[in-house]
Amino acid sequence: MHALPMATLVPPPLEDREIRELQAEVRELAQARDAVILAHNYQLPEVQDVADFVGDSLGLSLQAARTQASTIAFCGVHFMAETAAILSPAKTVLIPDPDAGCSLAESISAEQLAAWKEQHPDALVVMYVNTSAEVKALSDYCCTSSNAVGVVRQILAERGPDTEILFGPDMFLGAYVERQLGRSLHIWDGECHVHAGIRPADITATRAAHPDAEFLIHPECGCSTSAMEYVAAGDISPDGVHMLSTGGMLDYAAHATPGSSAIVATEVGMLYPLRKTAPKVEFIPANAEASCRFMKMITLPKLRDALRDGVYEVSVPAATADAARLAIERMVAIS
Ligand code: 13P
Ligand code: SF4
Repeated sequence: MHALPMATLVPPPLEDREIRELQAEVRELAQARDAVILAHNYQLPEVQDVADFVGDSLGLSLQAARTQASTIAFCGVHFMAETAAILSPAKTVLIPDPDAGCSLAESISAEQLAAWKEQHPDALVVMYVNTSAEVKALSDYCCTSSNAVGVVRQILAERGPDTEILFGPDMFLGAYVERQLGRSLHIWDGECHVHAGIRPADITATRAAHPDAEFLIHPECGCSTSAMEYVAAGDISPDGVHMLSTGGMLDYAAHATPGSSAIVATEVGMLYPLRKTAPKVEFIPANAEASCRFMKMITLPKLRDALRDGVYEVSVPAATADAARLAIERMVAIS
């Protein structure tokens, strides 16, 4: 199994009693502050359990756009909280740890995107939502893993099949979109260190140990290209391979046959909501070390402090937010 360097940096586990007390405190503080708590599927179980909504990037953006609460406590990484702040500029958005970043979002800067655009002046820019607000401000469309294919398909339908597209920053997601649509894109060579670390060898080894299991593969994974190749070569039945966003994996779990099993190629936090949704299905991690230390920086004590002290506020300068909003709203509309 591929060793991932970030897997050891998880916070020490809390006792059950501490969890119960902190969750009660968090709920009281959220009510007092008129806050909605949003949590990504990779968050720690005790954080997911105290949230009002748990979901994937697209689902959380939708919740952020439509909430009536005056404060959004965002349990996820910084670009997600920024996206919420752009969609709901009149609301206060808090993140329990401002250092919860994202290696994929770091893989392209606004300066790099501007230079890329200069090389392709006629191209439209589609950026994964895992980017900074400044990068979104230079983009025509954002997308998430659940609607990347749909976003590019819609652009081609509206602007013509030969439309030149710059797609970034995730190269594995870009390759997946290319294969689904049967045409090439200009693809940035960024990656998420957690998903890129789930290698073809992990799939081969886990498949050998669980020959009857289906595959749930997040398209950011380093194994996703080879899984598509296995399918194309007839080595794996296409029926058993599901390229899914984290929200798509939960939909799969909701309809899975009890007693069946599935190998899950994504960040390991996903196993908790999957097992909660389908306790009679066996979910097997493709790489048990695929843990995102940024996601795990959000803990219950930090969430309690955030709601108690009104920290850490995430805001985006108005000019950047205004420029980024259209690309995000286009993403939300194609859901
Ligand atoms: P989704 O929840 O949109 O599938 O994204 C996964 C991810 O890595 C978010 O950082
Ligand atoms: Fe970013 Fe990867 Fe962590 Fe998702 S799992 S937040 S893409 S570093």
